[in-house]
Amino acid sequence: MLDKKRFLVTSALPYANGPLHIGHLAGAYLSADIFVRYLRLMDKEVAFICGADEHGAAITMRAKKEGISPREIIDKYDAQFRDSFEKMRISFDIFHRTSSELHHRTAQEMFMDLYKKGEFVEQSTAQYYDTEAEQFLADRYIIGTCPKCTNLDAYGDQCEKCGSTLSPDELLPPIRSTLSQSTPEKRTTSHWYLPLDKYEGMLREYIEKGELNGRFHHDASAWKAHVIGQCKSWLDGGLVPRAMTRDLDWGIDVPQELPNSAGKKLYVWFDAPIGYISATKQWAADQQKDWKDYWQSEDCGLIHFVGKDNIVFHCLIFPAMLKAHGDYILPVNVPANQFLNLEGQKISTSRNWAVWIHEYVASYPDRIDELRYNMVKNMPETRDSEFTWKGFQESSNTELVNNLANFVNRVMVLTNKYYDGVMPKYEQLLTFKASDNAEDEASFKDELELISEKVEEYCLCIEKYDFRGAMKTVMEISSLGNQLLQFNEPWKLIKTDPLIVEACMSAAVQYVAVLSVLCRPFLPDTADRMRKMLNLEPITEEGELKELRRKLSVFEALVPKTHKIGEPEHLFTRIPDEMIALEMEKLQSTLDMNTSTNLAKGEKTAFTALSATATYDDFSIIDLRTATILAAEQMPKSDKLLKLTVDLGFEQRTILSGIAKHFSPEEIIGKQILVLANLAPRKMMGIESNGMVLMAENAEGKLSFVSPPEGWMNGSVVK
Ligand code: 2FM
Ligand code: ZN
Repeated sequence: MLDKKRFLVTSALPYANGPLHIGHLAGAYLSADIFVRYLRLMDKEVAFICGADEHGAAITMRAKKEGISPREIIDKYDAQFRDSFEKMRISFDIFHRTSSELHHRTAQEMFMDLYKKGEFVEQSTAQYYDTEAEQFLADRYIIGTCPKCTNLDAYGDQCEKCGSTLSPDELLPPIRSTLSQSTPEKRTTSHWYLPLDKYEGMLREYIEKGELNGRFHHDASAWKAHVIGQCKSWLDGGLVPRAMTRDLDWGIDVPQELPNSAGKKLYVWFDAPIGYISATKQWAADQQKDWKDYWQSEDCGLIHFVGKDNIVFHCLIFPAMLKAHGDYILPVNVPANQFLNLEGQKISTSRNWAVWIHEYVASYPDRIDELRYNMVKNMPETRDSEFTWKGFQESSNTELVNNLANFVNRVMVLTNKYYDGVMPKYEQLLTFKASDNAEDEASFKDELELISEKVEEYCLCIEKYDFRGAMKTVMEISSLGNQLLQFNEPWKLIKTDPLIVEACMSAAVQYVAVLSVLCRPFLPDTADRMRKMLNLEPITEEGELKELRRKLSVFEALVPKTHKIGEPEHLFTRIPDEMIALEMEKLQSTLDMNTSTNLAKGEKTAFTALSATATYDDFSIIDLRTATILAAEQMPKSDKLLKLTVDLGFEQRTILSGIAKHFSPEEIIGKQILVLANLAPRKMMGIESNGMVLMAENAEGKLSFVSPPEGWMNGSVVK
């Protein structure tokens, strides 16, 4: 996979209209950072590029809301991004800005190049115009009903409920302008369109076969299935020309030499990806390098890390632009991640349902690697995943503290105690225990072999963008190291077989040395501290992993005999219950606030949008029955679940229902209810639940049973 001489790795340019949250981090920044650090450890030339996306209606909307200028907004968030990324140790080579002069120039040049090549089609079309605000509406300013999920508040560019990328014409009524809340009218305006339909064939070959101009371009089987799937569904739907300009007052001017350019700006999705190019130009100028070695050389592999809502822009639209220009390389992979949810709900900036990075780094400056670790564990690599504070605490305490930190500490303490920190002159072929079984033995050399296998597994995972898998391998190495100590119990053996302890402890130190390199992409601070403890050179990410693999392949020790290690330190401390309680309280107050705001906005907005349309057939397989609760008890060790015995007329069932916070067992016995009777059985906490009790939830989150009239026969069909 690493068959290129150079790599250009980009992370999606975040909109400078709001703070970063854990969803951003897990989506496009941490993943890219891990990959880039890995490339550097493998001695590859890399440019890691990012910057702030400072145009687009999202910025002007935010500025309007706060009553300040777009410039003030972008300056504020640009500074905040830099700080958050730096504190999270995201190692960009450059973090640029699309408001920079160099970027404006680069984007305009690209536009002119495409214009001169005749790649655009100028077209007059009817666009939404707000007569009260007296302006054409950017996609973000238009709200309507999502055609995919019927969310009433979908934006003209995207539905935040189902994640679909949309265009304003796809929205269903009622359509509103966010500027004045009025219904916009359609007015004619002219724009420059990129005829994506013209590139459909080329894009299909590129995505489906990994071919460009009939030749091998990249290994299509190495792309994530959900990325290819999204692209295919766009291609199957047929590509249509897409406007590359907008009627806006904030953004990059359409080059003035073009007729009809007055008041027109470049479409933000035209200029933003060019931000990768302008940022590379700036970085190359600063480093005395040639940016063309990266953007216009087949020796370079271009990889875009993005979230799933950016897939089509990076896999279809931007490649079409680059191809239209002709001089540029196209991405060899777009390892997009899916979405990270938070405590059971979609992360939402507008509803303040997020863990904000700037707040986390301010509150827990010494727990950066814990967050990085948990983000990797929950990385939505192939499907949406979920962050919970309880899960964060549990994985930190069991895996980082009990496994990794504990192992490293034991090795350091014992080596210092037995040998005064000086690596003994162990015998390479002397054997010690390799498992619980006394017969099962391993030598120092065997251990290096075992480690070497694991290191190869780790590399394979990273090269497949399976960062969770790679991190798991790291923890497995640490577990193996812990077992080595457990099986041999050097603290007992030191009195009877000191030579065996020498060999065993020397192997254990090698484990720590390997971990210090392998941890680096994931937990950079931890890796630094391990190096310091081992008294080894700090990692500079200049081929250390390549060198480590070489040494392992010839059974060369990573920490040589007679080397003196440093003092032990605790790598991680436990996450206390108080921290979790505090964070959960913060989220709870957001929930309370959202509920009261919804209620204050009036009844209408307190309603949840309708789910996607169900056909008659969809409904016909649902079997609802009337029933009566015969018995109810609290499930032990659960504050949510009640265990109900329910009479369905034709039989009695056990149903577990998550209503314990709303009702006491006593108050619901005898209650008549509706039950989803043909729900597949599900085991929870060791008990099988057979059905679901129907409840109505109001805007404040209060629950009520849905009941038939009193005395109604149990088992009646509801239709
Ligand atoms: O979705 C977003 O946050 C966009 N600002 C990403 C842009 S990525 C690139 F094209 F610049
Ligand atoms: Zn939707």
